[in-house]
Amino acid sequence: MGKKISCHFVVFLTCSSLLCVLKVAVAGRVVPLLQGYEKGSYGYSRSFNNIFDTSNYGTVQLNNGLARTPQMGWNSWNFFACNINETVIKETADALISTGLAKLGYVYVNIDDCWCSIRDLKGQLVPDSKTFPSGIKALADYVHGKGLKLGIYSDAGAFTCQVRPGSLFHEKDDAELFASWFIKYHRNKWALKLVGHSLHCPIPGKGVDYLKYDNCFNLGIKPKERYPPMRDALNETGRTIFYAICEWGVDDPALWADKVGNSWRTTDDINDSWASMTTIADLNDKWASYAGPGGWNDPDMLEVGNGGMTYHEYRAHFSIWALMKAPLLIGCDVRNMTAETIEILTNEEVIAVNQGEVHPLSVGLLGAWGVFHFVEGRKVYSSGTDGCLQVWAGPLSGHRIVVAFWNRCSKAATITAGWDALGLESSTSVSVRDLWQHKDVVEDAVASFGARVDAHDCQIFVFTVHSAYHSEI
Ligand code: GLA
Repeated sequence: MGKKISCHFVVFLTCSSLLCVLKVAVAGRVVPLLQGYEKGSYGYSRSFNNIFDTSNYGTVQLNNGLARTPQMGWNSWNFFACNINETVIKETADALISTGLAKLGYVYVNIDDCWCSIRDLKGQLVPDSKTFPSGIKALADYVHGKGLKLGIYSDAGAFTCQVRPGSLFHEKDDAELFASWFIKYHRNKWALKLVGHSLHCPIPGKGVDYLKYDNCFNLGIKPKERYPPMRDALNETGRTIFYAICEWGVDDPALWADKVGNSWRTTDDINDSWASMTTIADLNDKWASYAGPGGWNDPDMLEVGNGGMTYHEYRAHFSIWALMKAPLLIGCDVRNMTAETIEILTNEEVIAVNQGEVHPLSVGLLGAWGVFHFVEGRKVYSSGTDGCLQVWAGPLSGHRIVVAFWNRCSKAATITAGWDALGLESSTSVSVRDLWQHKDVVEDAVASFGARVDAHDCQIFVFTVHSAYHSEI
């Protein structure tokens, strides 16, 4: 007992605990995402705020302090499906580090379906002993030891989609189990100084971790009833865990899930094809005005590097996912990537479109909800047969706009963005940077900008708006 009290006392004094307490105290109100873009000012036209409408973004988010930007990392499902084991997960963690992907922000290592075999007589989920013989706690320690975060998977139903035990009606037990894997036992050096001997104190593991919560075998119970109990159970553990809702968009989660999870799948599963990827982008686009820091639309994980699409198609997939502020969860085998796959996934300028440039003061104590603009980009213009020549765009911080020219036709074509489609006055001047060529291409474009785009390719630019009035807001 004495040991326990001094342990808690010491832990309380450590910086990590202090930050944790402050993090939970973050206020629930969300700042308007387009603050600073007053109508008709700085070269923006009156339609700017309508084109990039954010009025449906929740006034109170789940607010667990997470997901201020979309989650980035890796997930096992798209490439491995059920062929996973602890070696694959460890080697993936190693590869995220050695390829430099982790440094770019890909920090979640998410195990999908098939890690669990049974629920035991005590009611506890048991990892598959053949594939995860050391257990998930050991894996969490390994992943945390690399400075990464571990994600786990379960289902808001009787079984997972691969017919492993689900968590419906077991939320409390399962949340406690997941949280227990993320506790680190530390030789606390402050304890050594203060009480003269070292203690093995439970302290929160580095960073936060993740639960993807699926929708199979749901017994016909509405998602709105099945997803909140796991949110509450996770909260009760005292551990901050990213909660990724995966109900496939069946009950329009953008309309309610912002108070339940940190992200919500808006569509059925992606597969590694152009048809699937484009269909999913369009379905997700519908919900652009609902997303923002704390809760993101999730059009499913990346297929980049899995072989079913061309280099240009994967480049388009990555560009549009970044612009839509989608989670960037790699779905290929990161231990064996081609140079092209690495080039796409490591494009820092495209990643910055997704992750924004967080002002140093918006991290941590001041304004955890950000003093930066964070709006999901969307399709703003289309022309050509079936609207296959498309312009997608979204506001960025610092009077910049990301603009993607996406050629979904079968032949190369010129795509042009007129300033009216972007919510700019026609006299506004912008400079244009190409994020795939990593080059400034135009200094002073006025009224419109066009470029030749190959079939199924996507060029992505950042426009920097030069005020028509020279009056900074
Ligand atoms: C569902 C999900 C997928 C994946 C599989 C696993 O289909 O939508 O993302 O998790 O289950 O079985």
